[in-house]
Amino acid sequence: MCGIVGYIGNKQSIDVLVNGLEKLEYRGYDSAGIAVLDDNQNLDIRKSKGRLAVLEENTKKIKVNGNIGIGHTRWATHGEPSDRNSHPHFNSSKNIAVVHNGIIENFNDLKDELIEKGYNFLSETDTEVIPCLIDNYYKGDLLDAVKKTIARLEGAFALAIVSKDDPDKLIAVRKDSPLIIGVGEGENFIASDIPAVINYTRNIYLLENGEMAVLKKDHVSIMDFEGNKVEKEVYNITWDIDQAEKGGYDHFMIKEIFEQPKALRDTISPRITKDNDIRLDDIDLTEEYIKGINKIYIVACGTAYHAGIVGKSLIEKYAKIPVLTDVASEFRYNNPFIDDKTLMIVVSQSGETADTLAALRLAKEKGARTLAVCNVVGSSIAREADDILYTWAGPEIAVASTKAYTTQVAAFIIMALYLGKLTDNISDEKYNNILKELSTLPEKVEYILKDTSKLEEIASKMTEKEDVFFIGRGIDYNMALEGSLKLKEVTYIHSEAMAAGELKHGTLALIEEGTPTISLATQDHLYDKMISNMREVKARGGYIIAVSKEGNTSVEKSADEVIYVPDAADDVIAPLAIIPLQLLSYHVAVKRGCDVDKPRNLAKSVTVE
Ligand code: AGP
Repeated sequence: MCGIVGYIGNKQSIDVLVNGLEKLEYRGYDSAGIAVLDDNQNLDIRKSKGRLAVLEENTKKIKVNGNIGIGHTRWATHGEPSDRNSHPHFNSSKNIAVVHNGIIENFNDLKDELIEKGYNFLSETDTEVIPCLIDNYYKGDLLDAVKKTIARLEGAFALAIVSKDDPDKLIAVRKDSPLIIGVGEGENFIASDIPAVINYTRNIYLLENGEMAVLKKDHVSIMDFEGNKVEKEVYNITWDIDQAEKGGYDHFMIKEIFEQPKALRDTISPRITKDNDIRLDDIDLTEEYIKGINKIYIVACGTAYHAGIVGKSLIEKYAKIPVLTDVASEFRYNNPFIDDKTLMIVVSQSGETADTLAALRLAKEKGARTLAVCNVVGSSIAREADDILYTWAGPEIAVASTKAYTTQVAAFIIMALYLGKLTDNISDEKYNNILKELSTLPEKVEYILKDTSKLEEIASKMTEKEDVFFIGRGIDYNMALEGSLKLKEVTYIHSEAMAAGELKHGTLALIEEGTPTISLATQDHLYDKMISNMREVKARGGYIIAVSKEGNTSVEKSADEVIYVPDAADDVIAPLAIIPLQLLSYHVAVKRGCDVDKPRNLAKSVTVE
């Protein structure tokens, strides 16, 4: 996510802005910038790709003096990392500067409208439409122009705005992306997160969705988007800086598990149009090309691979195109059948995994068209692939991938529908039904996250176990693989995922009294088969922890514990049913005193083979 800082007071704003942005560096970013209203009432804007140190160097060379300013660290979504795509963005006369966190979903339409009115754009970003719109509506009252502007914006936006024509104020706006107001003595602050202001003040206003604030040196007024005054209590922060970086959570992993509703919303919503169709801006696979290919390959590592195999089953089902899958480290040495009739899809959260990057390059050498499902804009894999489908999950800091997995699966559901429509192999009814189900995922994940007490209770029974098995069929088997990896990597407990039908071909010999067996039974058409497999395990003393859809109460006869997830179509259940497995692994790891965010022997991005 991007980092926002704003300051108005008696200090040199540049010092506060850079210090605040440093405290937000943990969120991950690829460029940084500031806009300061200098002593001559001009907007001094410095911004560049790269680390904050580059910006600090730039602002030391030619000192930036002024008591009012805004700053930003950018996590690229629209437009790759570059100087011109960095924030702040401004209107052509440079009297309005804006920094933004979020995604403006209707920016293309707004940009076309503004170009019609004679506005020029310097960047590829969605954000740049905002200062131009404010300029378009500005008739001497900045607040009025901002209100008219935000009424036109669709999507998520946290904004900090400064104008040289209204030099005694800053304006803050919050819709979906978080934003807080720091309240000081003769000074006030805007920030995307508490760490940025905690060294100056522990008194804050938490802006709610649909609220905005006008900050002066000695006064903050808060209102809704229509301008109606909002009374707010000042909230006193008691966290230390380390807790603040995790938003009050104990670890990044649990924070990122709880970020999944927003990550899914950000990944899904911008791709579903008003008339309930799919729009993939960053992919230009034509109908002719798709009808001309003879196979798709999906290649990745670890969790990304586990998302890819879910994608395989959905693409084959909806688009009727054969899909091969492989882990990248094997793919490269398996003499794969790749030619110019192969679409190669690589999946990578970081976009820097060496094996996956090498697989991408091998496929390109052999003439394949390449498409990356990636979470980091401008990463090596993102840059080298022909097409990109970004998961807008925001930075994933914990080594154990959680929100990357759910958003990658969501991306594959979207892609499978898109390819199914392109090949005319999916019925309108199925297409519309799955699209509707997809849109309900964020709130269903929110529902699951509302009460995690059962998982914490089950976790406490597993902390001493030495072997845990995960079994499932179809997409449940795909999820079993991911659940098993999660458990292993954060708890150090040995675990194995099995196709449930395979148990009797050997592994059943390992089942003893009390052996925990996580049994995924969410696929309606395989439910009865899964019940039989659970009974096989139970008959040997195994301890069955079942995961199934609400309403499948018959599972209780075959399980020791049942974790229910909200009902959903089989094909879209993976981003839901994986949540209990993520939470289970997290709580077992905490109870075992493991280093949850940085498990031993592991790295967040494996950039070596
Ligand atoms: C997953 O929890 C692990 N951290 C690991 O398996 C990871 O998924 C794998 O290394 C791939 O990383 P990538 O998605 O950044 O390419």
